[in-house]
Amino acid sequence: MTPELGVCYYPEHWPEEMWAKDAARMAETGLTWVRIGEFAWSRMEPAPGDLRFDWLDRAIEVLGAAGLKVVLGTPTATPPRWMLEKHPDMLAVDMQGQPRKFGSRRHYCFSHQGYIEECVRIARIMGERYGRNPHVAAWQIDNEYGCHDTTVSYSQPALEAFRHWLADQYGTVDALNAAWGNVFWSMEYDSFDQIDLPNLTVTEPNPAHVLAFRRFSSDQVVAFNTAQVDALRPLTDAPLLHNYMGRVLDFDHFKVGEDLDIATWDSYPIGFLSDRLEADEAHKSAFLQQGDPDMQAFHHDLYRAVGRGRWWVMEQQPGPVNWAPYNPAPLPGMVRLWSLEAVAHGAEVVSYFRWRQAPFAQEQMHAGLLTPNDRPAPALAEARQTADELASLGTVTQTQADVAILFDYASDWAWATQPQGAGFDYFRLVFSAYRALRRAGLSVDFISPTDAAEAGYQLILAPGLSTLDNGMEQRLTEGSELAILGPRSGAITHDFQIPETGRPGLSGLDCEVDLVETLPPNVQRDVVGGGAALHWIDRLSGTASDLLTYADGTAALKGQDRLWYLSGFPDDALWDRVVAMAAQRVDLNVHPMPAGLRRRETDQHVFLINYNAKPIVWNGHEIGACDVAILDRNAPEEG
Ligand code: GAL
Repeated sequence: MTPELGVCYYPEHWPEEMWAKDAARMAETGLTWVRIGEFAWSRMEPAPGDLRFDWLDRAIEVLGAAGLKVVLGTPTATPPRWMLEKHPDMLAVDMQGQPRKFGSRRHYCFSHQGYIEECVRIARIMGERYGRNPHVAAWQIDNEYGCHDTTVSYSQPALEAFRHWLADQYGTVDALNAAWGNVFWSMEYDSFDQIDLPNLTVTEPNPAHVLAFRRFSSDQVVAFNTAQVDALRPLTDAPLLHNYMGRVLDFDHFKVGEDLDIATWDSYPIGFLSDRLEADEAHKSAFLQQGDPDMQAFHHDLYRAVGRGRWWVMEQQPGPVNWAPYNPAPLPGMVRLWSLEAVAHGAEVVSYFRWRQAPFAQEQMHAGLLTPNDRPAPALAEARQTADELASLGTVTQTQADVAILFDYASDWAWATQPQGAGFDYFRLVFSAYRALRRAGLSVDFISPTDAAEAGYQLILAPGLSTLDNGMEQRLTEGSELAILGPRSGAITHDFQIPETGRPGLSGLDCEVDLVETLPPNVQRDVVGGGAALHWIDRLSGTASDLLTYADGTAALKGQDRLWYLSGFPDDALWDRVVAMAAQRVDLNVHPMPAGLRRRETDQHVFLINYNAKPIVWNGHEIGACDVAILDRNAPEEG
């Protein structure tokens, strides 16, 4: 399948006379997909039961007549105002106990049964009307679960659902008391009805309580999504999908993904670099108008796993956004680069957000492919050029990488619950590992903690993996790959206790954590021969060999056969050493990459992606500033 391009469009924002011209212009630009509908509930049903789909019928018809395939969104991220008259208690409640009011979007609590029924009702009405419409070729359910910090809610419906969930999980309150260690501070309960949500406590609540609430909150998102999937499935054969986000880990995306056909995500590289990445000022200024060279690829690879191989970029930044602290424009070439990079990682579709910049409301400063008064914005020509290049590139087939990262959403919840050191963050740790693999020119896959099957990788990294359950201990111990765990791996049980077997508790590795230290940002522990550990130190003992040591002689990396354990949170130099040692151990070819240049192998190609604002020469190939070189994989890479 040749990768395709698309765009997000809001027919309800524009006079109907404009639709046909817009559709023709999208087709002329080489776009083949258009996503609509995901925020239009107030126009689909202006009053309860007053269904007005005639405009949407015509919009779909006009877009379809221009040859475009429609992704139709269910509008459940934006319930209309009347919904609150019907369900006054449907709003999510924040940690301080305040309702999160109407007037923007995502104003609902995932646990509100009445609202879930409204969502199922509108999804079913839409499915009945458009499920067999030849132009509706995919469905997006809701929009960006978790956006604006909306996964967790401290509402009354959440409290009631949480108590049921706990009763289901633990059976008896005594079992819960034991699992959580509630004897500590006399926190024991006599019945599930006494258990509250873990907010507004005097000091920190029991981490087991918080982690259980985080697992519950994730399950509520999964169930919310499933309810709409169940409504739509019988009514359509078109694939169902959702658009996930960058560095939002508040629910288990693998579990939501199990019910869907395709994973998609919303990629805003320049916004992400400025508002959600730890990096020094030099890095942030070098990539200010390009985005971080690994951030997009990380999510492409992660969502390829969430979508079990099928994934898209649903929203691609086309120009300045409106929501980061500062919003510079992409350098010329970047919109094309981001699109081709996504394709290199397996995207079936890259869709730009949005067609025309809105002249009103919250996002009036957010660029589109067209200006508010209909002139081409700079990204339009790049989209056109990309469409032509994709047509001549043809099919891009993915191949399994040699290296995988084990990614676990629950580890993020655990370590956010009890960080122990302010610098320790699960995403930050895993991303630092990913960057190191990419500096070595390696392609990377992600696997989930329930991917127990041996998949033929040579190397698996599982940094910060909180709990070795789900057969993972056996999987890593008995697998044929080299597995690198630590720091802070196998450190707690499912119920947030230190395991009786010790940490990390791997039967094939005689190595135990005796003590944990965390460090302020200005302190590091140097490793003999180069590199250092930051933020977190597991002090290790045991008969496994010391593969690397700190300056004080204690172990920085221990290993036994095919299991290695890293004591600290590596800086870049230490990661580079560990990756090089691992590659040598398993006979992996590495391709050291200069800053800003990244390499991705597919079945037929090697993509060289230059995020730098200047040209670069690598192995005899010159790659222009903000440009992509596509080599034949079977030709020697040395130019
Ligand atoms: C996404 C969202 C879009 C739009 C966009 C702006 O998070 O899905 O609706 O708000 O951001 O960058």
